[in-house]
Amino acid sequence: MSRIKKIKGFADLFPQDAAVFTKLENTAREVFSRYGFGELRTPILEKTELFIKSIGEDTDVVGKEMFTFPDRKGRSLTMRPEATAGVVRAFVESGEYQPGKVLKYFTTGPMFRYERPQKGRQRQFHQLNAEIFGAPEAQADAELILMLKVFLNALGLTKLTIELNSLGCHECRPAYRQALIDFYKSRGKDGFCEDCQRRMETNPLRVLDCKAKACKELVKGAPEITDHLCGECEAHFSDVKSILDAANVPYELNPRLVRGLDYYVRTAFEVTSGDIGSQTAVAGGGRYDGLPKSLGGPDCASTGFACGMERLAMLLGEMEADAPDFYIAVIDERAANDAMLFAQQLREKGLRGEASYSSGSMKSRMRAANKTGAKTCFIIGENEFAEKSVTVKDMAGDDEQYTISREEYLEKV
Ligand code: HAM
Repeated sequence: MSRIKKIKGFADLFPQDAAVFTKLENTAREVFSRYGFGELRTPILEKTELFIKSIGEDTDVVGKEMFTFPDRKGRSLTMRPEATAGVVRAFVESGEYQPGKVLKYFTTGPMFRYERPQKGRQRQFHQLNAEIFGAPEAQADAELILMLKVFLNALGLTKLTIELNSLGCHECRPAYRQALIDFYKSRGKDGFCEDCQRRMETNPLRVLDCKAKACKELVKGAPEITDHLCGECEAHFSDVKSILDAANVPYELNPRLVRGLDYYVRTAFEVTSGDIGSQTAVAGGGRYDGLPKSLGGPDCASTGFACGMERLAMLLGEMEADAPDFYIAVIDERAANDAMLFAQQLREKGLRGEASYSSGSMKSRMRAANKTGAKTCFIIGENEFAEKSVTVKDMAGDDEQYTISREEYLEKV
């Protein structure tokens, strides 16, 4: 019989890997709640038009990377490639927003992008996502970056780089866009990769971010967005920077940072690491003020970020599993049920551990006990079975052991 294998780019998370993800989620929940974020869980499946309208038709994500299929009635559905679009849809649909109100949502879960799988890039990956609605102020952007830093530090990740840029707004970006197109034309269209020849007209900012060697060379000397910001965008960007400066948070200005999704205006940032291969971004985000309105909602400022959990997990490495409290070694085969029930009583008292389902020699059971790393081993042999007792062996200490009635032991726990 041929085995059914998992889908390419999708991973199984066995307990050791899942433990790292749980740690990431728990740390995020704890840190983000200090900043007033409440958890929002949105569906994995959404109408395809939501992503086309929010992420943008000319992006790689929408153009090439979505898992899109018709449902049984022929309606086009898409597995979310990111969380922001769904969060905005939910926020707009809830009608919770009123002018002057600030709402903060935290989301976590799997996302799906049909990319070429490689180290740090999967087709199903997981994000921790934070969004703020109703705050046009630079403080909201700076607060997100500070919160992200506190979160990463809480995980012990301190050697990461924060890259920062402003992408201007609908007032100042068109002129910058044109300046870029003119620049590319001056360099000769044919030298750029096929994707960039197309992007040049549809999404000229993305050309700046192309990884192809020829394009990287050709964009050297391209005009920089930060020289084309309008007065308001300039002031907003300068506020973000001065808050980060005052908080002593180092960052690098990167005028080439354009992000891969079309909804951004003004602040854009990424957190990168040199230790995880070619996919260096562990988190990315920025402001997307126009998105709620363009999805039929209020004209409301919005800003947020997402962390890639697989990439954070790569930085954290493997986690040591917590040692169990006990292991019950069954030496007399008649004691198997007693051992199991004693384990149940210990667990009801809050201890963690296992009883061996089958009996065996003292030597083999001790080997098994050592393998689990349990702090205490309870031995039930012939005498203990007859007397309803256990021999308690301290595995961590000096192998000290004593025999006690099981009932008495349970009373003492
Ligand atoms: P993004 O930059 O596309 O932004 O993704 C955020 C993070 O998700 C990346 O920095 C990376 O760590 C991780 N990531 C993305 N694609 C993959 C993949 N194929 N495999 C593994 N990890 C991946 C967004 O998604 C925006 N929605 C962030 C945002 C929230 N902006 C405002 N609010």
